[in-house]
Amino acid sequence: MKKRTKRRGASSPQRPGFSRRDFIQTVGLAGVGATMPALEGCAASGSGPDIPAEGVGPSPVEVALTVNGQDVKVKVEPRVTLLDALRDHLKLGSADPVDLTGSKRVCDRGSCGACTMIVGGKIVYSCTTLAIEAQGKEIKTVEGLQQNGTLHPLQQEFVACDGLMCGFCTPGFLVAGAACLEKNPNASRDDLRKALDGNICRCGTQTRALEACEKAARRMKGRR
Ligand code: FES
Ligand code: FES
Repeated sequence: MKKRTKRRGASSPQRPGFSRRDFIQTVGLAGVGATMPALEGCAASGSGPDIPAEGVGPSPVEVALTVNGQDVKVKVEPRVTLLDALRDHLKLGSADPVDLTGSKRVCDRGSCGACTMIVGGKIVYSCTTLAIEAQGKEIKTVEGLQQNGTLHPLQQEFVACDGLMCGFCTPGFLVAGAACLEKNPNASRDDLRKALDGNICRCGTQTRALEACEKAARRMKGRR
């Protein structure tokens, strides 16, 4: 397995709180269903992940999910992740086909953030969350950020700030940033940086993504 790179800012002065990356590095990837802890200043509410009923599978089982406000059912093996269930199985398994391929599978091991979704009010890596665990919880993907055809303020600011390039990491940045702003409209730069700490952009737009978050925060505050 590839050696994990050192966490950005690890040598800088101690930052308060606990980021998604801190969490992953602490617990490792031994357990599936890694749910990110509430981020300081962007604290997500809700209970911890439900443990799937014992004795399910290994054959496919019907999983009922609520995605972006829509109830859908998909038949998958209990070992299938939420990311794969939505990207690869939902269209085939649903009576009312939904195409949700916005969340990306890049590392598939809980380190890049391309698959970030909001599940039960918490930011999670959907590549390390089982679909079956997400039952009974509201799931929001990048497709759910727009409202009636109008892009979320953060999406608009990403465009304005030129914060997106390859398209693989952008959905994760958008979901993590939007989750932070929805929870804490007064999010500081440090809060926003921490919210994006679990997302990686390899081509250098990380600073522009942060700038877009800050501009969206100001815009959203002005609306309230
Ligand atoms: S694909 Fe899930 S964290 Fe990278
Ligand atoms: S925009 Fe995707 S890696 Fe930078």
